[in-house]
Amino acid sequence: MGQVISDPSEAQVFSFAKFARHAFFTQVNQWLVEHLGIEEGWSVVDLACGPGAVTELILQLKKSGQGLIYAVDQSLTELNKARQRITSKIVQFVCGSAEQLSRLVPKVDAVVFCNAIHLIEDKRAVLEEIFKVLRPGGVLGFNTTFFHGAYPEGTASFYKLWVLRAIQRLRSQGITVIRQAKTTAMQWLSPQEFSSLLETVGFRNIQYFTMTVDLPIESLEDISEFSMFIEGALPGVPLPIASQALKEGVRAAAQERGISSLPRNWLQVIAQAPA
Ligand SMILES: C[S@@+](CC[C@H](N)C(=O)[O-])C[C@H]1O[C@@H](n2cnc3c(N)ncnc32)[C@H](O)[C@@H]1O
Repeated sequence: MGQVISDPSEAQVFSFAKFARHAFFTQVNQWLVEHLGIEEGWSVVDLACGPGAVTELILQLKKSGQGLIYAVDQSLTELNKARQRITSKIVQFVCGSAEQLSRLVPKVDAVVFCNAIHLIEDKRAVLEEIFKVLRPGGVLGFNTTFFHGAYPEGTASFYKLWVLRAIQRLRSQGITVIRQAKTTAMQWLSPQEFSSLLETVGFRNIQYFTMTVDLPIESLEDISEFSMFIEGALPGVPLPIASQALKEGVRAAAQERGISSLPRNWLQVIAQAPA
């Protein structure tokens, strides 16, 4: 899945870590983690943990050091960043894919799955894996800002302008972007579609909420450094070149529109395995 990054120094550059440092990002994830009713002794999976921002938030709920957190990610680069950031006896780092979750971890009380479900091609298969590892009555929380409803009114055209300006920069360097079928990250579901999918898998007590956050343009430059975002926005273009074009593109679009931030909706979903 995705582009193979062979040069380790290059892999460092195309991490999610820079975007994950923004205050609004902590706030949306904290909201979810705090609404799951996680108890001190619970074992929790942080699925697609990336550089560990959400793992840290879960750890903060376990002040007495009880229970376990399994921080799972398919990217060794991201997992190593999480390892460097978190030293705790109750956190175990597991390299593996969400599609194999039931082979990676034992039964747990909760699964937290932040900012990654849109990157999953077969969402139903992964939700089934999550369902398998949850004990009866266990809880799942996930969130994403890549869903139908993510753009507050009047903001969709900004993203078109951003990509257009990025493509123009590539063209000026003689690079053509070939329009391809939508990448997985761009195949969005609506909150209702997520809800029916969860129900089909067997989840109950499904609740969803949307939160609006203000994205500083600087954070959009930072997301332009994350490999999976770059591949979604400019498929087929080498990462370093595409990343640079996206950064310049977003600065140009923001300047044209005279904005320094952009509102965006996050979807927060909580569901339970039947007791
Ligand atoms: C946008 S980051 C989110 C990281 C973290 N959950 C957070 O919110 O800060 C997405 C992460 O999902 C991971 N990922 C994507 N597809 C995956 C899969 N099929 N299995 C496991 N991890 C996956 C990527 O490696 C990346 O670290």
